[in-house]
Amino acid sequence: MKAIVCPRYGTPDVLEPREVPTPRYGEHDVLVRVRATTVARDDCSFLSGEPFAARLYSGLLRPRFSVQGSLFSGEVDAVGAGVTRFAEGDRVFGLSPRDFGTQAEYLRVPEDAVMARRESGMTHEEAACLLEATTALTLLRDVARVRGGQRVLVNGASGSVGCYAVQLAKHLGAEVTGVCGPANTEALYALGADRVLDYTRDDFTRGAERYDVVLDAAGRSSFTRCRRVLTRRGAYLSVNPTPGTLLHVLLTSPGRGRRARFAATGLMQRPENLVFLDSLFASGGIRAVVDGSHPLERTADAYRRVERGGRMGSVVVTV
Ligand SMILES: NC(=O)c1ccc[n+]([C@@H]2O[C@H](COP(=O)([O-])OP(=O)(O)OC[C@H]3O[C@@H](n4cnc5c(N)ncnc54)[C@H](OP(=O)(O)O)[C@@H]3O)[C@@H](O)[C@H]2O)c1
Repeated sequence: MKAIVCPRYGTPDVLEPREVPTPRYGEHDVLVRVRATTVARDDCSFLSGEPFAARLYSGLLRPRFSVQGSLFSGEVDAVGAGVTRFAEGDRVFGLSPRDFGTQAEYLRVPEDAVMARRESGMTHEEAACLLEATTALTLLRDVARVRGGQRVLVNGASGSVGCYAVQLAKHLGAEVTGVCGPANTEALYALGADRVLDYTRDDFTRGAERYDVVLDAAGRSSFTRCRRVLTRRGAYLSVNPTPGTLLHVLLTSPGRGRRARFAATGLMQRPENLVFLDSLFASGGIRAVVDGSHPLERTADAYRRVERGGRMGSVVVTV
């Protein structure tokens, strides 16, 4: 099969389209014909090996997995003899069980992985993008338990995580402020934000507004900086486990004053979350935000697009 191979850490130039063996699948596995995947900020870290902490996960000296990519939309090509949840031809989307391997024509997925059938009729590109919403879903609904009437600020609201955080916070009934760069303010209003701040002009941490939840999807702020704009029991949600954030998570406890929270959301996903997003899409409660698409053999361009910044939503690779 065709795949994009990452033989060593580096720039997008190290990526090579190659023929590699199609994965073998076992009794309880599904073989998925991948049709779309995405490239986001994390993928850039796993490609460059920067920051160095990323290598604790992706391999110290060279990438542990030569084919990168973690989200997929596609069709079930074949199933193992013991598989009961899926059948050949099912349109599915999901998270690669080891967080790698989707930049290829085929992917082996255990039947009990975070994968679901799609019923809504969304395209493969839309489905791959919408999987990025799982991070915000877990943080806002499950960790912060956002309720109607609360005030939520999303920092980095135009990114892969942020653009869904805005929509999901609205869906949960919150009043939403999005912070993004100058190129995307209009698009953010169109996604449903009640208020949009341009980070090149406004520093939300110095403003008069107070928020029940600040979701820092840009990873550019900190609990210390945001504390001032949190309500008395407000929460700062971080997507990055920096030492400072982890210290504040330990020092602040839920239910007692302002608090910092971090969650490794990839480890907290279940197929039900994908079913939920699929039906929310079908009812018009969320939309997939596609910045642009690149064919598999030009995956390097997808990385370059993410590195350049200024995008709105997700960068898709079609397979
Ligand atoms: N905890 C988890 O389980 C988990 C899961 C998934 C992702 N993540 C993390 O989530 C983060 C976001 O991922 P992503 O793919 O959404 O990244 P991204 O697309 O690069 O999003 C960052 C966004 O922040 C904006 N931004 C840049 N500088 C800013 C500033 N000073 N103030 C406010 N906004 C600013 C960028 O806008 P411009 O490009 O216009 O500057 C961009 O839209 C990454 O750090 C990733 O590691 C964590």
